[in-house]
Amino acid sequence: MPTKVTDSYDKLLAGQIVKIQFKYISEENLKDIYHLFVLLFHYYDQIFLTEVVFTIAKEILMNAVKANAKRLFFGRMNLDINNPQDYKKGMESFSEEVTMKWTEQEKYLSDSEFYIHVNMQIKNGGFFFEVENNSPVLPQEQERIRVRIEKAKQYTDLSDAFLDFSDTTESAGLGIILTHILLKNSGIGYENFKMEFTPIVTKVNLFIPHNVVPQIIDSKFNAKILDEIENLPSLPQSVTKLINLCNNPDSNIQTLSAEIEKDPGLSADLLKLSNSAFFVTRAKQNTVLGALKIVGLKNLKNLLYVTGVNKVLGNRYKKAEEVWEHSNKVSFFARNIAVESGKNKFADLASTAGLLHDIGKLILLSLGKEITDKIQALKTREKNNSVIMEEYSIGISHPEIAGLLLEKWSFPEELVSVCRFHHKPFLAPEEHKDIVEIIYLANMMADVLDFKASYATIYPPVLQLMKIESEDQFHRIIENMNKAYLNGQKL
Ligand SMILES: [Fe+2]
Ligand SMILES: [Fe+2]
Repeated sequence: MPTKVTDSYDKLLAGQIVKIQFKYISEENLKDIYHLFVLLFHYYDQIFLTEVVFTIAKEILMNAVKANAKRLFFGRMNLDINNPQDYKKGMESFSEEVTMKWTEQEKYLSDSEFYIHVNMQIKNGGFFFEVENNSPVLPQEQERIRVRIEKAKQYTDLSDAFLDFSDTTESAGLGIILTHILLKNSGIGYENFKMEFTPIVTKVNLFIPHNVVPQIIDSKFNAKILDEIENLPSLPQSVTKLINLCNNPDSNIQTLSAEIEKDPGLSADLLKLSNSAFFVTRAKQNTVLGALKIVGLKNLKNLLYVTGVNKVLGNRYKKAEEVWEHSNKVSFFARNIAVESGKNKFADLASTAGLLHDIGKLILLSLGKEITDKIQALKTREKNNSVIMEEYSIGISHPEIAGLLLEKWSFPEELVSVCRFHHKPFLAPEEHKDIVEIIYLANMMADVLDFKASYATIYPPVLQLMKIESEDQFHRIIENMNKAYLNGQKL
């Protein structure tokens, strides 16, 4: 944990004001803010609020920098932002010249008189987060914001907002709507978010009371998902029979292999596994019995869980290639993390858990592509990889869906925990912490590679697993792992 983060944390707990000044906000800056929030909300036993508050804070901060960058852009173009004709002209190329070339803005902003001031303090039973920037909001923009806020207050969940916004990735103003839905559904409340406009500065105040309690989100999709889970068939009998044979101390390896041979697909998978990179030191196996001797009962059981899930869900949700591709990668990364971090005993479990961790996403597909695409667009926009977008638009997230499903199928508890907590490792039961953290990190690594998450939002304690201390080091590690994965090798 960087000392400036712990210093700010200590100051805040001592009731002092923490002031930070920015010109531009980098990934590293966001990471520090995220880390500070993790510490604070942990302290106040409100860890469930971390992602929501970070998402709102990031919206506020990025809007402030964007507003400053907009003023500078108008200056460079010799356009008067207060003149309606000039405004229209400037806005025509704003997105292309500023939004699309975002990192270039750093140099303009650093040399300018524009600033962002962040003030934080613990007082009056809560946490204050105030952002001030010195570019005023134009009257017509204020009006637009006011209209959007009023609209946002009428939405019950994000799916209502989706209907109003056909293009969720680019729509200006989605941020303010998102913020208000999050304020309402998280229990923080609209009244704790205030915007103040003056002719010189713009100020946004966010207050998080210490007594906010987790909310239950009521959405029309929730019941549909629960129904879908309820109606899914049980695992195929051939699979459960084999799992039971594995669990029975009296069964022997010959009976098992004879049983496996009845299933050509499973036999092929078992042979493939026994001849895979993880067992390369042995001679090539051609028989089910030989393969079984190499991989062992534990790995056979893991294979059976994956086969079972595939048999039920694979046929049902055809458009799931993306999920399986991602899961294969996470599985590979997870095994490597287990080995590299000296937790070898979790290696086999890690590769199975990696394959299964996102099966909840397959069930989400039953809601239709339109809604899942929009959720994905929002997640990509925010890059914080949390499941709040699912929680606030559907009322249930893919980890919880998978948890319920695996419980229904009586899977081992550690696999249930992995599925349920792979986006919230801080909530995992103590006895499953190791495996949940391994999958969490593997998943974040894969998502950062796919530009779906950012290093800034990785839960800090988990980085210690791989002794990761900087963003550069993190990127080196994931690039190497990815290369090894693509080459189909062990690290
Ligand atoms: Fe996930
Ligand atoms: Fe994932």
